[in-house]
Amino acid sequence: MRKWLEGRVLENRAWTETLFSLRVESPALRFEAGQFVRIALDMEGERIARPFSFVNAPSDPVLEFYGVIVPEGPLSPGLARLQTGDALYVADNPSGFLVLGEVPPAEDLWLLATGTGIAPFLSILRTETPWQRYRRVILVHAVRLASELVYRDIVLELQSSRKQFSYLSFVSREIHPKSLAGRIPDAIRDGRLEAAAGAPIAPERSQFMLCGNPGMLKDAAAALALRGLCKNRRRTPGQITVESFW
Ligand SMILES: Cc1cc2nc3c(=O)[nH]c(=O)nc-3n(C[C@H](O)[C@H](O)[C@H](O)COP(=O)(O)OP(=O)(O)OC[C@H]3O[C@@H](n4cnc5c(N)ncnc54)[C@H](O)[C@@H]3O)c2cc1C
Ligand SMILES: NC(=O)c1ccc[n+]([C@@H]2O[C@H](COP(=O)([O-])OP(=O)(O)OC[C@H]3O[C@@H](n4cnc5c(N)ncnc54)[C@H](OP(=O)(O)O)[C@@H]3O)[C@@H](O)[C@H]2O)c1
Repeated sequence: MRKWLEGRVLENRAWTETLFSLRVESPALRFEAGQFVRIALDMEGERIARPFSFVNAPSDPVLEFYGVIVPEGPLSPGLARLQTGDALYVADNPSGFLVLGEVPPAEDLWLLATGTGIAPFLSILRTETPWQRYRRVILVHAVRLASELVYRDIVLELQSSRKQFSYLSFVSREIHPKSLAGRIPDAIRDGRLEAAAGAPIAPERSQFMLCGNPGMLKDAAAALALRGLCKNRRRTPGQITVESFW
């Protein structure tokens, strides 16, 4: 039976009116970078729980979660309102397959995220594994507005400390000179993504991890299939490993 651990909010950082990160003190949890855990609040006599990906590395004892307020959603508005010292419940059984242990070796590791889907990749990038296993690591973050390009401090730190690292952003609903326009799948199809990264996409050299909006997962996987890449499954290894947030 699942046990709920009682955590305490150390910090609630508001990035924008709708985006927030919680840092949480909790009893120790074992997980692999890229995994998620159910977190919960008691609301009107009921415990409301949802899966959230860890942003922190497994070695960091402070848990970190990155979320967006879905205005009509049962849990996310309550999470965004939490203040330092408030209680937050954390399940004791992290899980999930968006982990490097499930991804075959290759030349290039591509991490494609929409919105809050960047969370598990930040955890992965904070470990040593990607740097030991891949020659290039390319993080791609697609958001609606430039103000949603969060965790710039981690990106800048990786850009200065890891020669293997590249970062590309997409901003879809305003013009942002430092970002690509439009959506990830279109840029795979028309070659803009490869050109911007300076890395060709091919089944023999590329591994992709995709996270976030299910529409992006479907459309990007279809665009990659046109290039000969296929879903990565335990029985039939491929090049595309996905996690849908809804
Ligand atoms: C494996 C897994 C890991 C997840 N990790 C995260 C995470 O790290 N951060 C996070 O914010 N959410 C994450 N989610 C989504 C999260 O569990 C909740 O669904 C979300 O916080 C909204 O909760 P809610 O109760 O307010 O609304 P819900 O009833 O859960 O969702 C209502 C609707 O909101 C939309 N929606 C849900 N999540 C998102 C999102 N992240 N971004 C944009 N639209 C969304 C969908 O259209 C969904 O149908 C994850 C989901 C899964 C399955
Ligand atoms: N982000 C906000 O400003 C905001 C504000 C209030 C509430 N919310 C809540 O959060 C939800 C969405 O939040 P979000 O902006 O983080 O996530 P999102 O809707 O998934 O958008 C993030 C990025 O993914 C892109 N995208 C969407 N569908 C795609 C597809 N099929 N293929 C490729 N790319 C795709 C979007 O492009 P497009 O722009 O082209 O769709 C955008 O660039 C909303 O439904 C709402 O409930 C968000």
